[in-house]
Amino acid sequence: MAPVKSLSGSVNRQLADAIASARPEADGVDPLLRRSDRADFQANGILALAKKAKANPRELATEVVSHIVTGEGLIKDVEVSGPGFLNITIADRAITETLAARAADGDRLGVPLKENAGITVVDYAQPNVAKEMHVGHLRSAVIGDALRGMLDFTGEQTIGRHHIGDWGTQFGMLIQYLFEHPGELAPADDVDGEQAMSNLNRVYKASRAVFDSDEEFKERARKRVVALQSGDKETLELWQQFVDESKVYFYSVFEKLDMEIRDEEIVGESAYNDGMPETARLLEEMGVAERSEGALVVFFDEIRGKDDKPVPLIVQKADGGFGYAASDLTAIRNRVLDLHASTLLYVVDVRQSLHFKMVFETARRAGWLKDGVTAHNMGYGTVLGADGKPFKTREGETVRLEDLLDEAVQRAAEVVRDKAQDLTEDEIQERAAQVGIGAVKYADLSTSPNRDYKFDLDQMVSLNGDTSVYLQYAYARIQSIVRKAGEIKPAAHPELELAPAERALGLHLDAFGDTVFEAAAEYAPHKLAAYLYQLASLYTSFYDKCPVIKPAPPQDVAENRLLLCDVTARTLHQGMALLGIRTPERL
Ligand code: ARG
Repeated sequence: MAPVKSLSGSVNRQLADAIASARPEADGVDPLLRRSDRADFQANGILALAKKAKANPRELATEVVSHIVTGEGLIKDVEVSGPGFLNITIADRAITETLAARAADGDRLGVPLKENAGITVVDYAQPNVAKEMHVGHLRSAVIGDALRGMLDFTGEQTIGRHHIGDWGTQFGMLIQYLFEHPGELAPADDVDGEQAMSNLNRVYKASRAVFDSDEEFKERARKRVVALQSGDKETLELWQQFVDESKVYFYSVFEKLDMEIRDEEIVGESAYNDGMPETARLLEEMGVAERSEGALVVFFDEIRGKDDKPVPLIVQKADGGFGYAASDLTAIRNRVLDLHASTLLYVVDVRQSLHFKMVFETARRAGWLKDGVTAHNMGYGTVLGADGKPFKTREGETVRLEDLLDEAVQRAAEVVRDKAQDLTEDEIQERAAQVGIGAVKYADLSTSPNRDYKFDLDQMVSLNGDTSVYLQYAYARIQSIVRKAGEIKPAAHPELELAPAERALGLHLDAFGDTVFEAAAEYAPHKLAAYLYQLASLYTSFYDKCPVIKPAPPQDVAENRLLLCDVTARTLHQGMALLGIRTPERL
């Protein structure tokens, strides 16, 4: 593995050095480098420096320029423009050599691993036991998986936690029903995902009906909750049946989503049961929580309800029961103290942001969230229907996630079949799954997570515009060119002059690592998606203007262009993979 310095990184360093040579007291000033239309890069940092030094910015800029070495090594040309900007042009040779070094570095494409990597526990994909998954669970799974992909690539160590809803009073009713109607739930290893969910639905509906109509059953269900909480063996066994049956269903949905979920990372609310009494005791002893009307609660000055009354976080209810907050607080203790997390990331619907605000603040006061440990809720927005209203079926019900995924795959099959030239029906179906699921993921990831977005299948599987299908086709097209090139293989020819479209593509390719690092640090998968979309667009203009095979350019030019094709394909592939999206070799 040989990490490659990005061109912008190297330019930045040269500029910083030149600034320090011109003005030793300005050592460490940021040259504020960015890509520009005027030249390859523009640096704006001298303006602020001149203001501070009460110097003429153009004069200062000219002085800085006199300390910059230009030539074929890196910076070909630098000029002062406007009020004191620097316009910088990179040498063609440096672009080609950098790409060649990236090409030689396998899947990492020369992207270095970060220094001082930490451990991030990512809480995502957390459906609820005995309940159907819906579009809300889709977002958490898709965003969480992409964030993990990006963070892992930077060298951060991620640990997944699927905090599934597998505990609470609702299980009293279900378990009591199963107790009275044994055999209603087939053993988990006898069913597939769909049967599992339909069994769970049936039991849920049947038990709900009795619960609502039979007061005595209600009472028995209530007692069952107490039995569950006190760890009664028979009750726990029945509860386990619900969990197991649900897991069969979860796994089938995640498989459809083309997402790997590991059993040891499914650590639901119930996993923290044993620690909850201690969590409560510690909070009370430290004075972080107090008794109020029998309950153990935490107050916050700034969190108030409508009547200006403080809204507390309830750690323990008056009846002694623990709830959602207690499990999350206990989970924090585990994640920081046992898993040694430096960052806790929660990919949970924005509607739970107040809950997390209170939980984090409580954990800070208790010292469980120490200095140097960050906790962040990536609250994501709502999935809307094509009409811009919260996503519902025509009958006004929430849409089942599987139906949605099936429909996406079906629509993708139409697109693939339409374009397919030499694909068998099996291949079409396989591609359709990759295109359809990719489309769903990309539509989600290409919008800033905190915004709502429209679930519009027509738009999602469109071949034009900012869609995964467009990116997948770009990838497949490059692969086909590389195949057609036959004997001619990618090879770097740094002595060749580059056309503008080649330079633009090359410079963009060089920014892959910096983009992934920025997107990972900001938890912003949409920045990586935007980068990839622009990459495909730049490739398209390169391909239009710079023939690779037909009409045949001189062999060295063809080889150099194939190098650009090769690095583009691998960058697209790797970037999409980080987002959890496949890039089929042929489409
Ligand atoms: N199961 C919850 C729900 O569906 C989400 C859990 C989020 N994670 C957490 N640590 N509270 O709403």
